[in-house]
Amino acid sequence: MAYNLNVNGRSMTVESDGDTPLLWALRDILGFKGTKFGCGVGLCGCCTVHIDGVATRACQTPIDSVGTSEIATIEGLATSDPGRRIQKAWLDFEVVQCGYCQPGQLMSAAALLTETPDPTDEDIDAAMSGNLCRCGTYNRIRDAIKYAAHLDATMENAQ
Ligand code: FES
Ligand code: FES
Repeated sequence: MAYNLNVNGRSMTVESDGDTPLLWALRDILGFKGTKFGCGVGLCGCCTVHIDGVATRACQTPIDSVGTSEIATIEGLATSDPGRRIQKAWLDFEVVQCGYCQPGQLMSAAALLTETPDPTDEDIDAAMSGNLCRCGTYNRIRDAIKYAAHLDATMENAQ
């Protein structure tokens, strides 16, 4: 069956079964390889995308449940103000180590800043607790989120 998905502001058609995980459709059919496969069972957060702005596990989201909702992947992160600020903060704090978990981390962090513009440590821990990092970048992630929350909205120095 054909499903129309709105990905990063573009309408795209996916021919597949309705129970196909959104992660499969994004990576294998539409070529958005930035979203990573980790555990496949909703535990690691590697596959996190935004659906109508909410951080969502793509491996646990069948394509027939998405409807006309707006999907954003890491490739579309820079189209939002929180996304640009998070990107700059990640670069300034050199958060990334191996990088595998980081697309999911960035998407969860951007969703947090959209929902909670000035998050506390507790807000950050709650929002990011589902994103696992084998390299242990958690402290730098927390620092980068706090920094991103207070970046100038004009982002004149953004990368
Ligand atoms: S791959 Fe989706 S949560 Fe791990
Ligand atoms: S940066 Fe390596 S798993 Fe997170």
